[in-house]
Amino acid sequence: MLGINKLPYHATLQLPSKWKECKEIVSLDGQWKFHWSKDPESRPADFYRESYDVSSWDKITVPGNWQLQGFGKPIYVNMQYPFHRDRPSVTGEPNKDWYAYDHRNPVGSYVTFFDATKEMLSKNLILHFGGVHSAMYVWVNGQKVGYSQNSMSPAEFDVTKYVREGKNKLAVEVYRWSDGSYLECQDMWRLSGIFREVQLWVRPLVHITDYKVEAIPNADFSQFTVKAKISVCNTGKKTAKDLLAQLEIACPELHGVNVNPDHHNVTNCRIPKLRAGDTITVELSFPYNSSPRLWSAEKPWLYPYKVELLGKKDTKNDEHFDNHLGVKRVECVGEVFKINGKNVKLRGVNRHDHHPVTGRYVDDKTYEQDIMLMKQANINFLRTSHYPDREYLYELCDRWGIYVMDEANQESHGYGYANKVMGEDPEWKDAHVDRAVSLVQRDKNHPSVIFWSLGNEGGVGPNMKAMRDAVVSLDTIALPFCDTDRSQSDIYDDGYLTPDKLASEARRITDRPFMMREYAHAMGNSMGNFQEYWDVIYADSSICGAAIWDWVDQGISVAVANSTIYTLHSQFLYGGDFGDKPNDGEFCINGLIGPDRTPHPHYYEVQHVYQPLQFVRENNGHIRIINRDSFTDPSEYDITYDTISVSFEKYLNVSARLKEDKPWAKKGFAVASEQFQLSKGLKSVRIYDGIAPKVKETPDGIIVSTGNTIFTIDETGALASWIVDGAEMLKAPLEPYFWKPENDNQHAANFARRLAAWKDAGAKRTIRSIKTSKNANTVTVTVDCSLPVGADYTLTYEFYEKGDVKVDVDYNPTATNIPLIPKFGMRMRIPADMTNIEYFGRGPWENYPDRKRSAFLGKYQMPLSEYETEYIHPQDNGCRTDVRWFKIANGKNTLLVSGLQPLCIRAWDYGEEDLETAKHPDEIQRGRFVNLNIDLNIHGVGGIDTWGQRTLPQYTIDGNKSYHYGFVLEIK
Ligand code: GAL
Ligand code: MG
Repeated sequence: MLGINKLPYHATLQLPSKWKECKEIVSLDGQWKFHWSKDPESRPADFYRESYDVSSWDKITVPGNWQLQGFGKPIYVNMQYPFHRDRPSVTGEPNKDWYAYDHRNPVGSYVTFFDATKEMLSKNLILHFGGVHSAMYVWVNGQKVGYSQNSMSPAEFDVTKYVREGKNKLAVEVYRWSDGSYLECQDMWRLSGIFREVQLWVRPLVHITDYKVEAIPNADFSQFTVKAKISVCNTGKKTAKDLLAQLEIACPELHGVNVNPDHHNVTNCRIPKLRAGDTITVELSFPYNSSPRLWSAEKPWLYPYKVELLGKKDTKNDEHFDNHLGVKRVECVGEVFKINGKNVKLRGVNRHDHHPVTGRYVDDKTYEQDIMLMKQANINFLRTSHYPDREYLYELCDRWGIYVMDEANQESHGYGYANKVMGEDPEWKDAHVDRAVSLVQRDKNHPSVIFWSLGNEGGVGPNMKAMRDAVVSLDTIALPFCDTDRSQSDIYDDGYLTPDKLASEARRITDRPFMMREYAHAMGNSMGNFQEYWDVIYADSSICGAAIWDWVDQGISVAVANSTIYTLHSQFLYGGDFGDKPNDGEFCINGLIGPDRTPHPHYYEVQHVYQPLQFVRENNGHIRIINRDSFTDPSEYDITYDTISVSFEKYLNVSARLKEDKPWAKKGFAVASEQFQLSKGLKSVRIYDGIAPKVKETPDGIIVSTGNTIFTIDETGALASWIVDGAEMLKAPLEPYFWKPENDNQHAANFARRLAAWKDAGAKRTIRSIKTSKNANTVTVTVDCSLPVGADYTLTYEFYEKGDVKVDVDYNPTATNIPLIPKFGMRMRIPADMTNIEYFGRGPWENYPDRKRSAFLGKYQMPLSEYETEYIHPQDNGCRTDVRWFKIANGKNTLLVSGLQPLCIRAWDYGEEDLETAKHPDEIQRGRFVNLNIDLNIHGVGGIDTWGQRTLPQYTIDGNKSYHYGFVLEIK
């Protein structure tokens, strides 16, 4: 059963931004009465009756999810159904430890009251639900109105005959699971309730039920034809006559500025007599001869229009709806994907509708923030994974310019990726088609939509074909797309390929354009090798683009609690944190931005790699601009330059900046930038002309002293003590250290096991000899050791009069088949109050060898807390690469680390062991010391997937090669 008494799906009649001022809409959002039952048996079955007293019930906010308001548990799972799989039933006995065992199918009973005036009763009243998960029964004043599932699309019911003057009772019974849930197995928090708007539409008895307005450009885009279909129904008792359907189109506007505000094109058509109960669709068509302003993500030109129903004699049925038209053509020409005749590249991202407090309900402000941050990151393509979002999101994409893959709410992953169970079962055909029809019917007028996706990770077979057929019969402007059943997709899609595999697959496929609907799994500290992907994509005109998985971390911070399982959380929770079983842990934390919309460091890498202009230095010193956009000229930006230098190195920073304000960024915002080195650093020659420090060999080690400074090298060759003015600078020795905690990608790729030999390789060094020598200017201590992995390792300290020490390291493998080195370098711990950092290196944000294109060299200053990156799931973080020098200070002392070559430096107020055992940031023990890793190199973060792919070899450290590096330490 897909629905009872549901009205047909139709276009969003009024632009969402105008809902508040639309006189036909009465919002029923707000505080409702609520009762939660753990299973259907214990629900208050007759609560819908007028006599049923709900005054003692709890309150709940509509829209919202009940699990985030203190009722029952949210469950985060990826691929499986969190209830016993046995379609169509959802109440079979699951594993005993599953939440669903004791909560077989929780039911939310909702009640609200609304007033109706006498005038309203003379109209047609439609109850509209924007989204209810997963299924609901509806009653008004004790009378059954209907039933609906398909939770991400609107459900509407004609309630005219149930409403009376004065107070009315609306009762909604929502089931957490229904047979519809078999098509809603998306990788996300499984949340329930009335989570989108509820409205009562007060319509004229004769009213517009649906409309489609499309623009068809001619071959050379010199003009276009407007085609409109307007459907009108008569819900009254009398035949309706003398009505006019009218379409009024204004001149095009860009970002709200209309080229000719006074000029309108008006066309209309008489509606033939419409008998009571009938619906008619009239068609209007006219050529628009002046050369069109085409809609694209770069230049989202819109033609505002009004669809109207007008009475010739009276105005009682008059209706006006505002919308906008975009003129565009989307096509596959052979294996090339084109928008408006140009080979556009889709720089994409996937996005779940997620908010840390309100769950599946995302408010308008957050939508605006998301689209703004996407535009600022040069993202031009959004896949609404894995279901239609709220209508306002599409309006923003229309206005600000984002290409949209609008996805049907269809995923049967619990039966396997590309399964036949659901793809071929004729009994499930209508349910599939329902989800395709609801998608296209609602969103067909949005210029931003370029693809209709049949869903995600569902079936293969006739049900996919039926979905495609439905889509194509309703719209021919956007192209049908399917991930699981390639025979039903206009685009050949694959996911999570490596850059090399992408290149070869795209070459192999020649019958249509190629894309990766998902790639660059952005889980935790990730997004390495991102430029490599785009080198491949730009080099092959048959690859139309790719969409990152995904936009926002699905972390939850619940601040409301009226049942027992919640506390107030200042941090973000993930799967399992609610005691939810089964769960997939932190696998929902894969975003470019945090749940609170704070960009992660890798957000900036995306911004850089996705930039529309690339700057390339030619041999003659000129800088060439490559334009990756299709409808924008580089001259539309201000190009700015500045130079920076460090010792003898000089750099040029070039940027392309907005010449004027845009809705998503201010004038001066840099949409593209690059850094070039102008002059190479001369090796700074240190001249040591002081006198050599004193040196003594004692049972405690070798003691070197000069001025106010005393160093001790212990019998393990480590710098164990460094006293300056009587104060110890070391909380733990400076010594060889090769380990780094895993990040999520590495964890999935067995990093800790594969590279385990390195975990204690530094600590388990064998000392062969420690030699001290003194000449006129320096004291030298040479520590000769071997590492258990099978390598010679020599550490040389040179101490100078000023109290500084130069550290040199030589590594020469003796064994073969030594595993990759997690990081090559040393570690020490310094006093906890040394937290003010200044450095010259790449920044300001965290960067790693495979993710540093966006992080330009410069001098940066920040507290330690900003130097670290706090990942929701704690993991290795905070690296800065190509560091020339690094200062870390408390009020009194400044430790300066100067590289003899560029360094990678990580600084934390906790140790590796603290990071490795914590599941959430607040479990990390902090503040005992500052942990400083001073390295030649570090293993890259990886950036392909989080289920086994490794960091690309060029960003790893081969243990079978020799390395040499050094740095100077001093206290100022
Ligand atoms: C994809 C899937 C997404 C998500 C991702 C892993 O295959 O479509 O929904 O599960 O993998 O994070
Ligand atoms: Mg899935």
